[in-house]
This record gives sequence, C-alpha cells and structure tokens, in this order.
Amino acid sequence: MLILGLESSCDETAAALVTGDRQVLAHRLAGQEAAHRPYGGVVPEIAARAHVEVLQPLVEAALGDAGKTLADVDAIAATAGPGLIGGVLVGLVTGKALAHAAGKPLIAVNHLEGHALSPRLADPDLDFPYLLLLVSGGHCQLLLVEGVARYRRLATTIDDAAGEAFDKTAKILGLGFPGGPAVERAATEGDARAVPLPRPLKGSPEPHFSFAGLKAAVARMAPDHAAADVAASFQQAVVDCLIDRTRRALDKADGATALVVAGGVAANGAVRAALQALAAEHGLRFVAPPAWLCTDNAAMIAWAGAERFAAGLTDPLDTAARARWPL
Ligand code: KG4
Ligand code: ZN
Repeated sequence: MLILGLESSCDETAAALVTGDRQVLAHRLAGQEAAHRPYGGVVPEIAARAHVEVLQPLVEAALGDAGKTLADVDAIAATAGPGLIGGVLVGLVTGKALAHAAGKPLIAVNHLEGHALSPRLADPDLDFPYLLLLVSGGHCQLLLVEGVARYRRLATTIDDAAGEAFDKTAKILGLGFPGGPAVERAATEGDARAVPLPRPLKGSPEPHFSFAGLKAAVARMAPDHAAADVAASFQQAVVDCLIDRTRRALDKADGATALVVAGGVAANGAVRAALQALAAEHGLRFVAPPAWLCTDNAAMIAWAGAERFAAGLTDPLDTAARARWPL
C-alpha cells in the first residue's frame, strides 16, 4: 500500500509518500518562518498564498524522490482540518484534484489524528489502547487512543495550548519565532528555580490544562530577571503542569499499554525526559516519535491515511474543509 499525504493546515507545506509497512519513501517540507517572522506569528493570508505556491512542486519532488508516479499511489490523504481555513483549503483541494485526475480515493484526515497516530509510524510495536499527550501550538489534550477513528478525550486546555505559551514566552523574551526551540535553547543556560512562576490547575481533580495564567506571569516577571532564567523557569513550569495532569489522566486510562507524546512540543527534550520518568513510574512503555515527526509534517498525514485506508475508510470528493474539528 502506498499513500500520498498532504499537509497545509498551519505554516508548514508538506508532501510525503508512506507505505502500509511504515516506510517513509519521501517527505518534503517547506517552512514559512521567514515570511511570518516580521509579524511575530503566523499570518493566515500569507500562509495560504505560500501553500498555493509550493504544494504542487513539493508533491512532484516527493514523487521524484521515491521514484514513483501518481499511478503507483493507492490513495491520497490530505489534511481537511482543523487549522487556518485558507491553508486547509489549499491542501484539501489539491488532494481532491489529484485524486480525481488519477482516479484514486481521497482520505480526508483530521490533523490531530495525524499527530495521534504518528507514534505508530515510528514504533511498529505500539498497540492500542495508549494514553496520548498531544501538545502542539494549537492543542493540548490527553486522549485515550483506542483504535483508528476511536479517540476518547480525557482532557483539554481551558484556555491556551502549551506551544502557544512557548511562542508567547519567546516573544516576551525577544527570542524570535518560532518560539519553542528558542526557549528550549535559552533554558539550557538558565536556573529553573530563579523565577517563581505558577503551575495552573496543578492538583485539580480533572486532568485539564491551563496556560493563560502562566503566560501572564511570564509577561509580568520577565523584566526583573535574566532571559535564560525566565526561559528555564517557564519550561519547568510547563513540564510540571504536563506531568501532574498526565499523572491524573493515567488513573482514567484503563488498559493503556503505553504513555505516548506527540505534537510540536513533544520535540522538547525536558518534556520527553519527564514523561519517560512518569511512564517508568507506572511500569508503562514510553513512546515519542523522532522530533521531525512531532512538528507538523506530511508523513503523519500519509500514515493516518494508511491506517484509515486499511480500515476501509475513504471520503467523497465533496468533503468540506473545517477550521474547527474536534477529534
Ligand atoms: O504540531 P506543531 O508543529 O503545529 C501545530 O499543530 O500546532 O506544533 C508547533 C508548536 C509551536 O508552538 C512550537 O513553538 C512548539 O510546537 N515547539 C516546541 C519545540 N519545537 C516546537 N515547543 C517546545 N520545545 C520545542 N523544542
Ligand atoms: Zn500540528
């Protein structure tokens, strides 16, 4: 089985070819960081235009890398939401056009499902059910992944996502965009106990998240401290919240065989190390995809497409793009 995957829901344009037996034959990615940097965040209109310009060439390049043509592909998987609607439309319409022209089935993939199943692309031994901490720029959720298209949401954020807090902290500290990797780098030089930042919702009975108060506290305290100390203290506060909330969710994750993390913030070394220790504490396997598979990419969309295709799930060509689409 060979699946072409397309991703364009935020500020990465990507195309990938993945097989049913987990081989990533090609994965191409074009970031738009330079275009958005002057604004300190992603500008939806600029993102959509950039996706239009590069997606088609990326598909051709990926097919070339793999030595394949569209005729070799079994199905085309495109992100159909959630995300910035202009960008989602570009990828989904491109997927529909390719599917129609080549006479192949379309698979409309929920971007969150791409993240949720990506650990199974990286690890052939990861079986359902598993407890997934999905932490990205737009989402912070705990999900019990029971099977393909079977996701039970145990918790979500009541305000901001963890990645959003990383990006905002980077902006306050003048570390640039995108913020996550910059804060992680700065944190290595700082003292995580230097700035007394809050741990919102820590200890509360339901495993939900909140990061707005932490963001506000960083803005308030940053002027009085060294940037590296703020970065280190902020990162530690996020780690403490993620661990406390995930520990709470483990009580509700009946039968989970592994603790799994995915999404852009899963690329963070401190987050991974703390979750690994938590998994060990509970006698669970810990699975984290490699960093390139944590941040947005098309291989995870192609893989989710492969899982859905194997389960007999395809979608009609009039499937709508969705800005909001809970798993
Ligand atoms: O999954 P992703 O690429 O896009 C969304 O679907 O949101 O996640 C992007 C988010 C951004 O907020 C970025 O700052 C964060 O992931 N991120 C990180 C790291 N790398 C990316 N956060 C902390 N540490 C990192 N190393
Ligand atoms: Zn994402």
